[in-house]
Formats: sequence, C-alpha cells, structure tokens
Amino acid sequence: MPVPDVRPATEARPDALLELVHSARKELVARGESITSSWVEEAANDLKAGRQVGWTIPGRGLAFASSRPTRTFAHVHVADDSDDVEVAEALLAVLIAHFGTLVPRLESGVSGLSEEAESTLAERFLRVPGASILLRARMERLVPPALPGPPLADPPGFERTSVRSIPVAALAELDWRSFQGTPDERLVADTVEEDRQSLEEILNGRIGRFLEEASCALLRDGRELVGGILVSEHDPRTAVVLDLLVEPSERRKGIGRFLLLWGLRALTALGYSSVRLWVTEANRPARALYDSLGFSVSGRSRIFRYEREGGGSAAHPQTAA
Ligand SMILES: CC(C)(COP(=O)(O)OP(=O)(O)OC[C@H]1O[C@@H](n2cnc3c(N)ncnc32)[C@H](O)[C@@H]1OP(=O)(O)O)[C@@H](O)C(=O)NCCC(=O)NCCS
Repeated sequence: MPVPDVRPATEARPDALLELVHSARKELVARGESITSSWVEEAANDLKAGRQVGWTIPGRGLAFASSRPTRTFAHVHVADDSDDVEVAEALLAVLIAHFGTLVPRLESGVSGLSEEAESTLAERFLRVPGASILLRARMERLVPPALPGPPLADPPGFERTSVRSIPVAALAELDWRSFQGTPDERLVADTVEEDRQSLEEILNGRIGRFLEEASCALLRDGRELVGGILVSEHDPRTAVVLDLLVEPSERRKGIGRFLLLWGLRALTALGYSSVRLWVTEANRPARALYDSLGFSVSGRSRIFRYEREGGGSAAHPQTAA
C-alpha cells in the first residue's frame, strides 16, 4: 500500500477542500452533532488561509486541529466511504508529528470509517507509545409521557434551585471535583478554570440552547451545592444532557437518579420527545445509571489520545473495542 500523500491544507485546491469539509460535516451531523452549514465554508476558508491548521490527502481525507496550552483538539475525516484505515492512520501520524512536541496532549475524533475499520485503526494506534483511547457511547431514550400525580419531590434534606442562581465558579469547583478519579477526569478540562469556561459555554448556549427549565442544581440544607444536571436543546424535539454530577461524599444515595428523573419530567413538560447523552464506556457508575433508566446505546465513537512522555499518562486507558 503506497504511503498516502499528506499535504498542508493551505496547498489544497479550494473546491477540493470545500468538498472534504462538507463530507466531514455530513458525517458528524449524521452522528448527531450540531454543526451549522455555514461552518463548512468558514472552515474551508480558514484552512486554505492557514488560520486553522490542517492537512489533506487529496480527495481522500482531511485533518484539522486547534490548540490551547494544555492540549490540541483535532479531527480526522476519511472521505467517500473508502473506509481507508491507512488514510486515517497517516493523518493521525502527521498530527502527532506536528503537535506531539508542542502541546502535552493531542486528542482527535475520527469520522468516515465503518465501526470495523475504526476498530482496526484503534488497534494500530494503540501501538504508538503514549497512545490511549476513550471509547464513548451515545445513549438515548424517549422522553416519558406526562404521568398523573404530584411532581417528583426533592430528596429529604435537599432542595432544588436554578443553575443560574449558583455562581459559575462554585459549579465549576464541584464539577471539577466530581470528575476527578473517573475515566473522564480530563475529558472536558485540565484545570478548574477550563472547567468554568466549558460550563459558561453550556450556559451561554454555545452547545445548543441551554434549557434552564430542565436543568437544576441541588443544595444540602439550603446552601451547600451537592449536585446538578445541565440540559441543552439539540433540535426542537431532542434534548441533550451535557452534564450530570454528584458530590463524591453524597454518591449512591439516589441523587443522580433523582436529578435525571427530574430532568426527564421537565423535558416532558417542555414537549421534547427524546433525550440523548454521551458517556465514556469505562465510566461504570454513569453507564449503570443510564442503563437503569432505560437509555440505550445508539452510537459509539472514540477519542484517540496521544500524550508525550512526561505529559501525564492516561488514567484509564482502554483497549480497542
Ligand atoms: C454518575 C453519578 C452522577 C451517579 O450519581 P449517584 O447519586 O451516585 O447515583 P445514584 O445513587 O442515583 O445511583 C443510581 C443508580 O446508578 C447506578 N450506579 C451509581 N453509582 C454506581 C457505582 N459506583 N457502581 C455501579 N452502579 C452505580 C446504580 O444502578 C444505581 O442504582 P442502585 O443504587 O439502586 O444500585 C455520580 O457517580 C457522579 O457524579 N460521577 C462523576 C460525574 C460523572 O461521571 N457524570 C456523568 C457524566 S456522563
């Protein structure tokens, strides 16, 4: 198999670049991600102008990336239903070669491959020193029809309040602490400050309209924050749970289940017909909670993670599934 011809995106023909970006968006939208159609032209222009770093294998694949001090976020797309593992492998290799020494960690999603081809890619990727993979499941369920009877009572000793009544810094502190020690501890943020920024993005509707009425925070004795659920709109019929957290010392007391059930009831009242979320397969407590509440897996994706030596090792590396 000849080594695919990887070139900087700045050297690509504009129409070919547009086609590759369009194909990547199509695939990501089919997976349920919210990406506006205007993004295609903007991204293609930015890649051509070098404002966004990227590479292409003409007509066959595309990689693009953006960095912050702690890590680079990237995406690799294989075009045209070719299912070409070599294309994805070559693009991941160029990302590692470029960013591996610049930033402690690189994380890339991959699209355009069948489940079987992505699994083969994962096996090969794991041979690279510093590589690990987070396997993520998209889970969905229908929003239940309205049930007769009183609304769900707050658990004894706890009281619900609106998320916006809590200072974002306090929410971030609990969010950060809640994920430490789980397989997702560095999924969203590497510091409390990054966690705060990502919560602000949710609250400001950057990931879909924030559904304040289906989101809440839970206080103990009316003042101490112990949990919360953040829900946004994916489309007018579908909501997405973007965050669910419970203070570590209050776990296994039914709070997570209460928050999710409360959110489901609120979504019924708001008229949504289904709800989805993403969970890391190795996050057993969360996965078990979602299973027990009737969510089922509707898709999977992997985060291909590379950490340079001394950049920290993956806390819970998984094998390719
Ligand atoms: C996931 C999380 C919200 C669960 O909160 P919780 O209040 O401890 O959950 P509950 O007590 O309501 O548990 C409800 C059910 O979930 C499952 N579950 C919860 N924790 C579990 C664990 N440690 N092991 C196995 N199953 C578990 C069980 O089915 C449990 O029912 P049961 O107690 O009757 O067996 C909590 O562990 C957490 O905050 N984790 C860190 C943040 C996170 O991972 N959020 C989800 C991101 S997708």
